[in-house]
Amino acid sequence: MAREGLPIVVPPETTDQPTENNSRSLFKRIRPRRSFLKGLGVVGAALSVEPLLNIHAEAKGHPHFLPIGDVAILRFLAAAEILETDLWQQYNELAGIQDSEVPGGSGNEAYAEAVEQLDEDMNQYIHDNTEDELTHEQFINAYLVSKRAEPVDLDRFRTLPSSKASGAQQIGRLTNLMQLTVDTTWYTRYRSRTQNPDFGDALPQAIPTLAVGQHPAIPRTDDDVQSGDFLQAIANTAGFHFATIEQGGTSLYPQLAQRASHPEVLRILLAIGGTEIMHFQTWSDKAGNAPPVSATDPVTGVSVTFPDLNSPPLGGEDFQTNLIMPEPTIFLNKKFPACSVIRPTKTRGAAKAALNFLTADGLFIGQSKEFFKFMHTLAVEADLAVRES
Ligand SMILES: [Fe+2]
Ligand SMILES: [Fe+2]
Repeated sequence: MAREGLPIVVPPETTDQPTENNSRSLFKRIRPRRSFLKGLGVVGAALSVEPLLNIHAEAKGHPHFLPIGDVAILRFLAAAEILETDLWQQYNELAGIQDSEVPGGSGNEAYAEAVEQLDEDMNQYIHDNTEDELTHEQFINAYLVSKRAEPVDLDRFRTLPSSKASGAQQIGRLTNLMQLTVDTTWYTRYRSRTQNPDFGDALPQAIPTLAVGQHPAIPRTDDDVQSGDFLQAIANTAGFHFATIEQGGTSLYPQLAQRASHPEVLRILLAIGGTEIMHFQTWSDKAGNAPPVSATDPVTGVSVTFPDLNSPPLGGEDFQTNLIMPEPTIFLNKKFPACSVIRPTKTRGAAKAALNFLTADGLFIGQSKEFFKFMHTLAVEADLAVRES
């Protein structure tokens, strides 16, 4: 697979930790690409570690120079944004606004109406989130090109089927929204005053039945929009999935920003990361409006229950639906006072954890081995990035 602009790394499963030592061993495993060397004004084949480090250092004055760690971080984020665009595009075709900003699809009235039970402006929010992801993807790739680094292209992996429900385009997809297992721990995590996953805490699921089994978040066919309760369960699944995806971006950007070296790359990560937070905040608010409903999938037999989150045995501080801003919690060290923060933000292994999270979500069910291998390599390379002084 041609990957120009970034040295090829053979990623071991066990060394994806961002330490200075591992970064050295990364360089030892590098087989420099001719185009990478050409970009630095050097043409050569295999180099041992020290010459490569020297070239790396000499290149710092070059106008196109980006530390390889920054390139790796940006390439992983470009891939993540392409995947986000793909999934949001599917939601927009059925329940968003299809226009010149976000073209494709023609809407599914029954599904859109069920989604709008969470907020009458859901179609606008879905549209805007989709457009945002598209611009993130395009910007990061354009920036990589401007630095003579190879952009990320996932087109060869667009092999998954579209929904057959009215309103969806019939094109190959990167992500699968029809067999999701949705982690809803963000709901309790941002309401907890005493716990933080950075300290090893595991928070409870808000919708336990959504976190097991496989659930469609979009109608698979027009049969899925026939039953009121099941249709509402599909729409509610989407409503929680929106926040699940965006809380991931909310953590991922600050996690990786801690290992960016170039101030401009740091600026990009902070600026895009802030919009992921805005997305999450919006969806966190809307998910709390999901109408209570229980339904069984007539195709798979899998059941899901969306309880009234404001009523016993739920309710109270942890579940109250209008707690849409983060509660203060422990941060950095328990000796400090509680602080209202994004969590988690630990940087070690963050890209691989994000990839694992998306995989566990079911988004890639049906994807090829090559896809997972490609994404794994991008994640490991990003996690090997070390902040340079
Ligand atoms: Fe994004
Ligand atoms: Fe996002």
